[in-house]
Amino acid sequence: MTIGNRILTLRKKNGLKRTELARIIDVPVPTLRDWEKNLSLGKSLLDKLIPLSQELNVSISEILTGKSDDDLSTDLAFISPDTPTPEYCKIRLLHFLRFNSLDCNLYVKLSNKKYVKIINKYDLYTTDDILKFEKKGINDFYVKGNDYIPFVENLINIINLKVSDRKNATKQHASIFMTTSELINQLIHSIGITEQTKKTIEHVIYNTVNAIEQNPKVANILSKINIGKEPYIYEHSLLQSYISSSLISIMNYSSESIMHKLCLASFLHDITFKNTKHAKLNNLDGLSWQDLKIVSNHPAKAAQLATTFNNFFMDVDKIIIDHHETFEGDGFPRGIGANQIPPLSGLFIICHDIVDLIYDTEKEKFSSNEFSKIINSIKNKYSAFTDIKHVMEIMAGLDKLVGLKS
Ligand SMILES: [Fe+2]
Ligand SMILES: [Fe+2]
Repeated sequence: MTIGNRILTLRKKNGLKRTELARIIDVPVPTLRDWEKNLSLGKSLLDKLIPLSQELNVSISEILTGKSDDDLSTDLAFISPDTPTPEYCKIRLLHFLRFNSLDCNLYVKLSNKKYVKIINKYDLYTTDDILKFEKKGINDFYVKGNDYIPFVENLINIINLKVSDRKNATKQHASIFMTTSELINQLIHSIGITEQTKKTIEHVIYNTVNAIEQNPKVANILSKINIGKEPYIYEHSLLQSYISSSLISIMNYSSESIMHKLCLASFLHDITFKNTKHAKLNNLDGLSWQDLKIVSNHPAKAAQLATTFNNFFMDVDKIIIDHHETFEGDGFPRGIGANQIPPLSGLFIICHDIVDLIYDTEKEKFSSNEFSKIINSIKNKYSAFTDIKHVMEIMAGLDKLVGLKS
Protein backbone atom coordinates (compact mmCIF):
# COMPACT_ATOMS: atom_id res chain seq x y z
CA MET A 1 0.00 0.00 0.00
CA THR A 2 1.35 3.47 -0.86
CA ILE A 3 1.59 6.41 1.57
CA GLY A 4 -1.30 8.02 -0.33
CA ASN A 5 -3.51 4.92 0.03
CA ARG A 6 -2.75 4.80 3.73
CA ILE A 7 -3.73 8.45 4.24
CA LEU A 8 -6.97 7.88 2.31
CA THR A 9 -7.81 4.66 4.20
CA LEU A 10 -6.99 6.18 7.60
CA ARG A 11 -9.05 9.29 6.84
CA LYS A 12 -12.09 7.17 5.99
CA LYS A 13 -11.48 4.94 9.01
CA ASN A 14 -11.62 8.05 11.18
CA GLY A 15 -14.89 9.15 9.53
CA LEU A 16 -13.39 12.37 8.16
CA LYS A 17 -14.33 14.05 4.89
CA ARG A 18 -11.41 15.31 2.81
CA THR A 19 -12.52 18.92 3.29
CA GLU A 20 -12.76 18.39 7.05
CA LEU A 21 -9.29 16.88 7.42
CA ALA A 22 -7.77 19.54 5.14
CA ARG A 23 -9.30 22.28 7.29
CA ILE A 24 -8.15 20.70 10.58
CA ILE A 25 -4.54 20.28 9.50
CA ASP A 26 -4.60 23.58 7.59
CA VAL A 27 -3.73 22.49 4.04
CA PRO A 28 -5.60 23.26 0.80
CA VAL A 29 -8.01 20.48 -0.22
CA PRO A 30 -6.16 19.90 -3.55
CA THR A 31 -2.94 19.27 -1.59
CA LEU A 32 -4.60 16.58 0.50
CA ARG A 33 -6.15 15.10 -2.66
CA ASP A 34 -2.67 14.98 -4.25
CA TRP A 35 -1.26 13.18 -1.22
CA GLU A 36 -4.05 10.63 -1.36
CA LYS A 37 -3.29 10.05 -5.04
CA ASN A 38 0.36 9.58 -4.05
CA LEU A 39 1.33 12.80 -5.85
CA SER A 40 3.45 15.64 -4.40
CA LEU A 41 4.49 13.75 -1.30
CA GLY A 42 7.27 16.21 -0.62
CA LYS A 43 7.80 18.99 1.88
CA SER A 44 4.08 19.83 2.04
CA LEU A 45 3.44 16.39 3.59
CA LEU A 46 6.54 16.43 5.81
CA ASP A 47 5.49 19.75 7.31
CA LYS A 48 2.11 18.32 8.25
CA LEU A 49 3.07 14.86 9.45
CA ILE A 50 2.59 15.69 13.13
CA PRO A 51 -0.96 17.13 12.88
CA LEU A 52 -1.88 14.48 10.30
CA SER A 53 -0.80 11.60 12.54
CA GLN A 54 -2.62 13.33 15.39
CA GLU A 55 -5.91 13.53 13.49
CA LEU A 56 -5.63 10.06 11.99
CA ASN A 57 -4.81 8.60 15.43
CA VAL A 58 -1.68 6.79 14.31
CA SER A 59 2.04 7.37 14.62
CA ILE A 60 4.07 9.12 11.93
CA SER A 61 5.81 5.80 11.25
CA GLU A 62 2.47 4.19 10.49
CA ILE A 63 1.64 6.83 7.87
CA LEU A 64 5.06 6.56 6.24
CA THR A 65 5.58 2.81 6.40
CA GLY A 66 2.32 1.18 7.43
CA LYS A 67 4.07 -0.17 10.50
CA SER A 68 3.31 0.88 14.05
CA ASP A 69 6.07 1.94 16.42
CA ASP A 70 5.74 -1.45 18.14
CA ASP A 71 6.39 -3.22 14.84
CA LEU A 72 9.39 -1.00 14.26
CA SER A 73 10.93 -1.76 17.60
CA THR A 74 10.87 -5.47 16.74
CA ASP A 75 12.52 -4.64 13.41
CA LEU A 76 15.73 -3.88 15.16
CA ALA A 77 18.01 -6.89 15.22
CA PHE A 78 19.60 -6.84 18.64
CA ILE A 79 23.11 -8.09 18.97
CA SER A 80 23.45 -10.82 21.57
CA PRO A 81 26.21 -10.25 24.14
CA ASP A 82 27.94 -13.44 22.92
CA THR A 83 28.18 -12.32 19.31
CA PRO A 84 31.45 -10.61 18.36
CA THR A 85 30.69 -6.99 17.56
CA PRO A 86 30.68 -6.45 13.78
CA GLU A 87 32.54 -3.45 12.40
CA TYR A 88 29.35 -1.83 11.05
CA CYS A 89 25.69 -2.42 11.92
CA LYS A 90 22.71 -1.72 9.69
CA ILE A 91 19.84 0.51 10.84
CA ARG A 92 16.83 1.41 8.74
CA LEU A 93 16.92 4.91 7.31
CA LEU A 94 13.47 5.73 8.66
CA HIS A 95 14.69 5.72 12.28
CA PHE A 96 16.96 8.67 11.63
CA LEU A 97 13.98 10.89 10.92
CA ARG A 98 13.38 10.90 14.67
CA PHE A 99 16.60 12.75 15.43
CA ASN A 100 18.31 15.99 14.44
CA SER A 101 21.75 14.92 15.52
CA LEU A 102 23.47 11.70 16.60
CA ASP A 103 26.09 10.86 19.17
CA CYS A 104 27.86 8.69 16.62
CA ASN A 105 29.02 8.94 13.01
CA LEU A 106 26.66 7.72 10.29
CA TYR A 107 27.69 5.81 7.16
CA VAL A 108 26.27 4.43 3.93
CA LYS A 109 27.56 1.19 2.48
CA LEU A 110 29.17 1.42 -0.96
CA SER A 111 30.38 -2.19 -1.19
CA ASN A 112 31.05 -5.11 1.15
CA LYS A 113 34.23 -3.50 2.43
CA LYS A 114 33.62 0.17 1.75
CA TYR A 115 31.53 2.52 3.88
CA VAL A 116 31.42 6.28 3.52
CA LYS A 117 30.66 8.70 6.34
CA ILE A 118 27.67 10.93 5.59
CA ILE A 119 26.95 12.59 8.94
CA ASN A 120 29.47 13.42 11.65
CA LYS A 121 28.84 12.81 15.33
CA TYR A 122 26.90 15.76 16.88
CA ASP A 123 26.34 17.51 13.52
CA LEU A 124 22.79 18.72 13.11
CA TYR A 125 20.93 17.35 10.13
CA THR A 126 17.50 17.89 8.63
CA THR A 127 14.77 15.54 7.46
CA ASP A 128 15.63 16.48 3.88
CA ASP A 129 19.25 15.39 4.44
CA ILE A 130 17.94 11.90 5.22
CA LEU A 131 15.20 11.74 2.60
CA LYS A 132 17.57 12.60 -0.22
CA PHE A 133 19.24 9.21 0.37
CA GLU A 134 15.88 7.47 0.28
CA LYS A 135 15.22 9.10 -3.09
CA LYS A 136 18.44 7.49 -4.31
CA GLY A 137 17.07 4.10 -3.28
CA ILE A 138 19.09 3.78 -0.05
CA ASN A 139 16.96 2.29 2.74
CA ASP A 140 19.58 1.56 5.37
CA PHE A 141 22.35 3.46 7.08
CA TYR A 142 25.22 2.04 9.12
CA VAL A 143 26.82 2.92 12.45
CA LYS A 144 30.04 1.51 13.87
CA GLY A 145 29.45 -1.71 15.86
CA ASN A 146 30.31 -0.10 19.20
CA ASP A 147 27.76 2.66 18.63
CA TYR A 148 24.91 0.28 17.79
CA ILE A 149 23.65 -0.62 21.28
CA PRO A 150 23.66 2.98 22.64
CA PHE A 151 21.87 4.11 19.47
CA VAL A 152 19.20 1.41 19.72
CA GLU A 153 18.65 2.10 23.43
CA ASN A 154 18.14 5.76 22.67
CA LEU A 155 15.76 4.90 19.85
CA ILE A 156 13.72 2.53 21.99
CA ASN A 157 13.39 5.25 24.66
CA ILE A 158 11.90 7.55 22.07
CA ILE A 159 9.61 4.87 20.63
CA ASN A 160 8.38 4.07 24.11
CA LEU A 161 7.23 7.62 24.83
CA LYS A 162 3.53 7.17 25.31
CA VAL A 163 1.53 8.02 22.20
CA SER A 164 -1.05 9.74 24.41
CA ASP A 165 1.57 12.11 25.85
CA ARG A 166 2.80 12.90 22.40
CA LYS A 167 -0.73 13.52 21.21
CA ASN A 168 -1.41 16.06 23.97
CA ALA A 169 1.85 17.87 23.39
CA THR A 170 1.18 17.98 19.66
CA LYS A 171 -2.32 19.34 20.13
CA GLN A 172 -0.98 22.13 22.33
CA HIS A 173 1.72 23.07 19.87
CA ALA A 174 -0.65 22.95 16.93
CA SER A 175 -3.12 25.25 18.63
CA ILE A 176 -0.42 27.70 19.65
CA PHE A 177 1.05 27.78 16.18
CA MET A 178 -2.41 28.62 14.93
CA THR A 179 -2.98 31.44 17.41
CA THR A 180 0.34 33.03 16.59
CA SER A 181 0.44 32.50 12.87
CA GLU A 182 -1.10 35.84 11.98
CA LEU A 183 1.37 37.86 14.00
CA ILE A 184 4.25 35.72 12.80
CA ASN A 185 3.10 36.17 9.20
CA GLN A 186 2.96 39.92 9.67
CA LEU A 187 6.40 39.86 11.23
CA ILE A 188 7.95 37.75 8.49
CA HIS A 189 6.36 40.01 5.92
CA SER A 190 7.88 43.10 7.50
CA ILE A 191 11.47 41.92 7.75
CA GLY A 192 14.11 41.44 5.14
CA ILE A 193 14.71 37.73 4.81
CA THR A 194 14.45 35.61 1.71
CA GLU A 195 11.85 32.88 1.10
CA GLN A 196 14.64 30.32 1.39
CA THR A 197 15.73 31.67 4.79
CA LYS A 198 12.13 31.69 5.93
CA LYS A 199 11.87 28.02 4.99
CA THR A 200 15.10 27.20 6.82
CA ILE A 201 13.83 28.97 9.95
CA GLU A 202 10.52 27.11 9.80
CA HIS A 203 12.40 23.86 9.44
CA VAL A 204 14.66 24.63 12.39
CA ILE A 205 11.66 25.58 14.55
CA TYR A 206 9.84 22.40 13.52
CA ASN A 207 12.86 20.29 14.43
CA THR A 208 13.32 22.12 17.73
CA VAL A 209 9.68 21.62 18.72
CA ASN A 210 10.08 17.94 17.84
CA ALA A 211 13.17 17.66 20.02
CA ILE A 212 11.31 19.37 22.87
CA GLU A 213 8.36 17.00 22.55
CA GLN A 214 10.67 14.05 22.75
CA ASN A 215 12.27 15.25 25.98
CA PRO A 216 10.13 13.81 28.80
CA LYS A 217 11.23 16.45 31.36
CA VAL A 218 10.23 19.36 29.15
CA ALA A 219 7.07 17.67 27.86
CA ASN A 220 6.04 17.23 31.50
CA ILE A 221 6.55 20.95 32.24
CA LEU A 222 4.74 21.96 29.04
CA SER A 223 1.77 19.81 30.00
CA LYS A 224 1.37 21.90 33.19
CA ILE A 225 1.16 25.24 31.38
CA ASN A 226 -2.40 26.17 30.55
CA ILE A 227 -1.45 27.40 27.13
CA GLY A 228 -4.99 28.33 26.14
CA LYS A 229 -5.15 30.67 29.13
CA GLU A 230 -1.53 31.79 29.10
CA PRO A 231 -0.61 31.97 25.40
CA TYR A 232 2.03 34.66 25.97
CA ILE A 233 4.60 32.22 27.38
CA TYR A 234 4.65 30.16 24.20
CA GLU A 235 3.73 32.90 21.77
CA HIS A 236 6.54 35.27 22.69
CA SER A 237 8.96 32.32 22.63
CA LEU A 238 7.92 31.55 19.08
CA LEU A 239 8.35 35.22 18.12
CA GLN A 240 11.73 35.21 19.84
CA SER A 241 12.82 32.20 17.80
CA TYR A 242 11.76 33.88 14.54
CA ILE A 243 13.44 37.20 15.36
CA SER A 244 16.69 35.70 16.62
CA SER A 245 16.91 33.19 13.73
CA SER A 246 16.16 35.92 11.17
CA LEU A 247 18.82 38.16 12.63
CA ILE A 248 21.45 35.44 12.81
CA SER A 249 20.61 34.34 9.26
CA ILE A 250 21.95 37.59 7.83
CA MET A 251 25.01 37.83 10.04
CA ASN A 252 28.46 36.50 9.20
CA TYR A 253 28.50 33.70 11.75
CA SER A 254 25.15 32.27 10.77
CA SER A 255 24.66 28.50 10.66
CA GLU A 256 21.73 26.15 11.05
CA SER A 257 23.30 24.86 14.25
CA ILE A 258 23.35 28.35 15.83
CA MET A 259 19.73 28.79 14.73
CA HIS A 260 18.87 25.55 16.54
CA LYS A 261 20.54 26.84 19.70
CA LEU A 262 18.67 30.13 19.54
CA CYS A 263 15.35 28.39 18.91
CA LEU A 264 15.82 25.99 21.78
CA ALA A 265 16.83 28.88 24.07
CA SER A 266 13.72 30.76 22.88
CA PHE A 267 11.35 27.92 23.68
CA LEU A 268 12.92 27.10 27.04
CA HIS A 269 13.89 30.48 28.51
CA ASP A 270 10.58 31.16 30.32
CA ILE A 271 9.23 27.62 30.34
CA THR A 272 9.26 27.25 34.12
CA PHE A 273 6.61 29.97 34.47
CA LYS A 274 2.98 29.02 34.81
CA ASN A 275 1.55 32.48 34.31
CA THR A 276 1.99 35.41 31.97
CA LYS A 277 2.47 37.96 34.76
CA HIS A 278 5.84 36.43 35.66
CA ALA A 279 6.92 35.96 32.05
CA LYS A 280 6.32 39.63 31.26
CA LEU A 281 8.48 40.98 34.09
CA ASN A 282 11.81 42.44 33.09
CA ASN A 283 13.16 43.39 36.49
CA LEU A 284 12.73 42.41 40.11
CA ASP A 285 11.59 45.78 41.47
CA GLY A 286 8.68 45.80 43.93
CA LEU A 287 7.95 42.06 43.81
CA SER A 288 6.47 40.11 46.71
CA TRP A 289 8.94 37.59 48.12
CA GLN A 290 7.04 34.69 46.50
CA ASP A 291 7.18 36.35 43.07
CA LEU A 292 10.78 37.41 43.64
CA LYS A 293 11.77 33.81 44.29
CA ILE A 294 9.98 32.52 41.17
CA VAL A 295 11.26 35.23 38.85
CA SER A 296 14.84 35.45 40.09
CA ASN A 297 15.29 31.67 39.91
CA HIS A 298 13.79 31.06 36.48
CA PRO A 299 16.90 31.67 34.34
CA ALA A 300 18.88 29.11 36.33
CA LYS A 301 16.04 26.57 36.36
CA ALA A 302 15.46 26.87 32.62
CA ALA A 303 19.21 26.73 31.96
CA GLN A 304 19.41 23.51 33.96
CA LEU A 305 16.65 22.05 31.82
CA ALA A 306 18.54 23.03 28.67
CA THR A 307 21.50 20.89 29.72
CA THR A 308 19.30 17.80 29.12
CA PHE A 309 19.64 18.66 25.40
CA ASN A 310 23.44 18.80 25.52
CA ASN A 311 23.74 15.78 23.23
CA PHE A 312 22.04 17.74 20.49
CA PHE A 313 22.51 21.42 21.31
CA MET A 314 25.49 22.42 23.44
CA ASP A 315 25.68 25.62 25.50
CA VAL A 316 22.04 26.65 25.19
CA ASP A 317 22.06 26.93 29.00
CA LYS A 318 24.61 29.75 28.71
CA ILE A 319 22.24 31.79 26.53
CA ILE A 320 19.30 31.13 28.86
CA ILE A 321 21.08 31.98 32.11
CA ASP A 322 21.89 35.44 30.69
CA HIS A 323 18.50 36.34 29.24
CA HIS A 324 17.69 38.88 31.98
CA GLU A 325 21.14 40.40 32.13
CA THR A 326 21.45 43.93 30.76
CA PHE A 327 24.25 45.73 28.97
CA GLU A 328 24.14 48.37 31.73
CA GLY A 329 24.86 45.66 34.34
CA ASP A 330 21.66 45.99 36.38
CA GLY A 331 20.05 42.74 35.30
CA PHE A 332 19.77 39.41 37.08
CA PRO A 333 20.80 36.85 38.25
CA ARG A 334 24.45 37.93 38.05
CA GLY A 335 24.35 41.62 37.18
CA ILE A 336 27.09 41.26 34.56
CA GLY A 337 27.49 44.10 32.07
CA ALA A 338 28.08 44.53 28.34
CA ASN A 339 31.70 43.38 28.40
CA GLN A 340 30.88 40.10 30.09
CA ILE A 341 27.81 39.20 28.05
CA PRO A 342 28.87 36.69 25.35
CA PRO A 343 27.85 37.44 21.71
CA LEU A 344 25.01 34.91 21.43
CA SER A 345 23.59 35.90 24.81
CA GLY A 346 23.78 39.54 23.74
CA LEU A 347 21.94 38.80 20.53
CA PHE A 348 19.28 36.90 22.45
CA ILE A 349 18.80 39.78 24.93
CA ILE A 350 18.47 42.34 22.14
CA CYS A 351 15.99 40.14 20.28
CA HIS A 352 13.94 39.78 23.46
CA ASP A 353 13.80 43.59 23.65
CA ILE A 354 12.49 43.60 20.08
CA VAL A 355 9.83 41.02 20.99
CA ASP A 356 8.76 43.18 23.96
CA LEU A 357 8.36 46.18 21.67
CA ILE A 358 6.37 44.14 19.17
CA TYR A 359 4.03 43.27 22.03
CA ASP A 360 3.68 46.94 22.85
CA THR A 361 2.44 47.55 19.30
CA GLU A 362 -1.19 46.86 18.53
CA LYS A 363 -1.25 43.63 16.57
CA GLU A 364 -3.52 45.05 13.87
CA LYS A 365 -1.07 47.91 13.31
CA PHE A 366 2.01 45.79 12.89
CA SER A 367 3.76 46.57 9.59
CA SER A 368 7.19 47.17 8.03
CA ASN A 369 6.91 50.75 9.21
CA GLU A 370 6.26 49.72 12.81
CA PHE A 371 9.11 47.24 12.60
CA SER A 372 11.51 49.98 11.41
CA LYS A 373 10.45 52.17 14.34
CA ILE A 374 11.12 49.33 16.75
CA ILE A 375 14.57 48.70 15.28
CA ASN A 376 15.39 52.41 15.52
CA SER A 377 14.53 52.54 19.19
CA ILE A 378 16.63 49.42 19.80
CA LYS A 379 19.56 51.05 18.00
CA ASN A 380 19.18 54.11 20.23
CA LYS A 381 19.05 51.96 23.33
CA TYR A 382 22.28 50.16 22.46
CA SER A 383 24.14 53.09 20.85
CA ALA A 384 26.41 53.43 23.91
CA PHE A 385 27.74 49.88 23.37
CA THR A 386 28.62 49.84 19.67
CA ASP A 387 32.34 50.01 20.46
CA ILE A 388 31.96 46.31 21.33
CA LYS A 389 32.52 44.38 18.10
CA HIS A 390 29.65 41.91 18.36
CA VAL A 391 27.19 44.64 19.39
CA MET A 392 28.22 46.63 16.35
CA GLU A 393 27.67 43.52 14.19
CA ILE A 394 24.22 42.98 15.70
CA MET A 395 23.28 46.60 14.98
CA ALA A 396 24.49 46.18 11.37
CA GLY A 397 22.39 43.01 11.19
CA LEU A 398 19.34 44.92 12.40
CA ASP A 399 19.95 47.52 9.67
CA LYS A 400 19.93 44.72 7.14
CA LEU A 401 16.72 43.26 8.57
CA VAL A 402 15.00 46.56 7.98
CA GLY A 403 16.92 47.70 4.89
CA LEU A 404 16.53 44.52 2.87
CA LYS A 405 12.81 45.06 2.85
CA SER A 406 12.80 48.63 1.61
FE1 LIG B 1 12.53 35.36 31.43
FE1 LIG C 1 10.79 35.90 27.81
